[in-house]
Amino acid sequence: MDTLIFILILHVKAQAHTNSCSPINCSNGSDINIQFPFRLQEFQPQHCGLSGFDLHCKQNKTTVHFPSYGDLVIKSISYDLKKLDLLDPKNCVHQVFLNLNLSHTPFSYYYILKEYQYLNCSAQLSASFLQVPCLSGFKHHVYVVETSFVMPDFCSHVKTVGIPFSYSPFLSDNTFGLGLTWNMEKSQDSIATKFTTSVQQEAGQFKKLSDIANDKALACIILFIFVVVMLLNIKKLSHSTKRMEVEKEKENQKEPHTAAILGDYEALKPKDNPWPMSRC
Ligand SMILES: *[C@@H]1O[C@H](CO)[C@@H](O)[C@H](O)[C@H]1NC(C)=O
Ligand SMILES: *[C@@H]1O[C@H](CO)[C@@H](O)[C@H](O)[C@H]1NC(C)=O
Ligand SMILES: *[C@@H]1O[C@H](CO)[C@@H](O)[C@H](O)[C@H]1NC(C)=O
Ligand SMILES: *[C@@H]1O[C@H](CO)[C@@H](O)[C@H](O)[C@H]1NC(C)=O
Ligand SMILES: *[C@@H]1O[C@H](CO)[C@@H](O)[C@H](O)[C@H]1NC(C)=O
Repeated sequence: MDTLIFILILHVKAQAHTNSCSPINCSNGSDINIQFPFRLQEFQPQHCGLSGFDLHCKQNKTTVHFPSYGDLVIKSISYDLKKLDLLDPKNCVHQVFLNLNLSHTPFSYYYILKEYQYLNCSAQLSASFLQVPCLSGFKHHVYVVETSFVMPDFCSHVKTVGIPFSYSPFLSDNTFGLGLTWNMEKSQDSIATKFTTSVQQEAGQFKKLSDIANDKALACIILFIFVVVMLLNIKKLSHSTKRMEVEKEKENQKEPHTAAILGDYEALKPKDNPWPMSRC
């Protein structure tokens, strides 16, 4: 009996948690579904996502902020591929490559990287080299060249960095290249991870309950028993809940499998009839 009551309590708790962390988007027209490990910083509590996965809404666009660069606009998120496609609002993908430092983020480039050197030249190189228009001006010409290239005197070396591709006029429009992937182990927020595990366990308990409680009469009987036992047995209940929570806490110490978190997330979506007792 105590177990049944405990399950009912878990159900109420799971409802409250999942509602505030349900998938969200920045605007009606947006097809970008924001869900764990991401969260919308302005609209969802911290426990809905992992640290480093905070997203924002700016002018109806979903954005992510990188201290080394600034805001990038999210074009799409694939939770299956763990892939984030980004657009540079300044339309200069090589400025992103040059400045974006992902070392203290959960992200890395999705594509295989190759080292290139960025050169800043006071005169143009031969016509076979194409300068990066968005980084160049009248008196300086920026090029992305192979690391083996020996630069002339009128050039200075800006940086050698691993990037997905060199400059090409056909790839400069941001439609390709700003793909990132993420690694949840790189996020240190173990509290959020623990939380998700406990919600999953609670949601799992609820599923079993809803199966047996499909019958309305049975649901009402369970509700009646629940109320009676609650009234008669409040002291005992609080004792047993405490004990079980301690056990649950111990279980949560184990590191949860990250794939399971994503896979099981579906289970957290609110059901059509989440609280059968309300139909009594
Ligand atoms: C989004 O669409 C729903 C109906 O599809 C509508 O009720 C709601 O007002 C819309 N929200 C905004 C911000 O336009
Ligand atoms: C975005 O969210 C709103 C409510 O928050 C919802 O009505 C709408 O269907 C969502 N849009 C998409 C494309 O998921
Ligand atoms: C954002 O979208 C809403 C409707 O979904 C629209 O009324 C509003 O003008 C948009 N804002 C911007 C800055 O585009
Ligand atoms: C990125 O930043 C870290 C420290 O914040 C630094 O050690 C590393 O060299 C930087 N990487 C690049 C490519 O600038
Ligand atoms: C290239 O050099 C010019 C002038 O020397 C400077 O203004 C510009 O910021 C430099 N660009 C890069 C990418 O280093």
